Amino acid sequence: MSQINQITPWLNNQESKNIYKIVQKTYLTENKETLKFEKNIRNKIKAKFVNSYSNWTCGLYACLKILNLKGDDEVIVPNLTFIATINSVIMAGLRPVLCEIDENSLCLDLKKLTKCITKKTKVIIPVHLYGNCCDMDELKKICKKKKILIIEDAAQSIGSKYKNKFLGTIGDFGGISFYGNKIITTGEGGAVITKRQSFHKKLYKFKNHGRSKKGVFKHDSIGFNFMFTEMQAAIGNVQLKKLDKIIKKKKYIYEYYKKNLKNINQIIFKDSSKNCLQVHWFTNIFTKDKIKLIKYLSYKKIQTRECFYPLNLQPCFKKNKQIKNLDGDFKISKKIFDNLISLPSSFDLTKEDLDKIILNIKKFYVKKYRD
Ligand SMILES: Cc1ncc(COP(=O)(O)O)c(C=O)c1O
Repeated sequence: MSQINQITPWLNNQESKNIYKIVQKTYLTENKETLKFEKNIRNKIKAKFVNSYSNWTCGLYACLKILNLKGDDEVIVPNLTFIATINSVIMAGLRPVLCEIDENSLCLDLKKLTKCITKKTKVIIPVHLYGNCCDMDELKKICKKKKILIIEDAAQSIGSKYKNKFLGTIGDFGGISFYGNKIITTGEGGAVITKRQSFHKKLYKFKNHGRSKKGVFKHDSIGFNFMFTEMQAAIGNVQLKKLDKIIKKKKYIYEYYKKNLKNINQIIFKDSSKNCLQVHWFTNIFTKDKIKLIKYLSYKKIQTRECFYPLNLQPCFKKNKQIKNLDGDFKISKKIFDNLISLPSSFDLTKEDLDKIILNIKKFYVKKYRD
């Protein structure tokens, strides 16, 4: 009996063929296939400017670095996110400020956010966790009034929309991740989106050793090397063509689980935020029986996944003085961590796979209440 994985990318000979074609051209560092990839992303999500990056962690770091902020400038991040969000802020030498999330959206709680804002707040990073988002109009209103920039962490949300706009294209910057488990993948990889040409140019220079062109050896600014590769672009261009089908399948998976598990009172599904057309990167359920259910399903060869660990509890941040609000009240983040299970959500799941997962969840609850 083979295991049902929590997530696997949809890759086949279409990607292999394109890589083969690109490798034969013998120019593997960022070139024409990458330009095509950036253009395809722009068209797909109606973004003005796109820079491909080695990964979105580096992209987020670059967004913060090109703003020339000072060491005590503050950047607000949600307390429940993958650690890359806050690490980019720390690596950029800025002060992360933790803000609690909303129990329903799993994204920034905007009421609590306003209490985190000070004169030193320069950037807010809303993370569109699992493809959902907060009230982006309200967030924009808050930021406009206080002259704060928005960097959308859309790592997990390519294809999701807020009021008909793609997530990642609403703020001053946005970023998507193409890591192996994301909605579409290039292995490692990221896209940095912006509306402003000046930011776009700076982002290109920053990833290219501080110069606007390759092959030039006089550098007028200090940069780094976060360039893309043609192999990543070769995969990405095929993956982008598959995106609509993947989105459709994610919707089917979410609705199928929801419909078939609706009678189990111990399981909760959370609705998407108002005005958000969410692509369910993962289908999540919430239950007090998290640990036991994960163990039971694992025994049945069904792989699931826990939520990200709340930042305030991360061992690596213990007593870290650079982080503000580390000792704050983050009951909601902890509750979500304690209850959330990501069910298998891959494109290639069959109806038989889904039925097996659902049957085993039902069996778990029958067994639990009989024992
Ligand atoms: C919310 C979030 N932010 C940032 C990242 C970092 O992206 P990358 O892996 O492309 O560096 C990820 C995923 O890996 C993520 O889930």
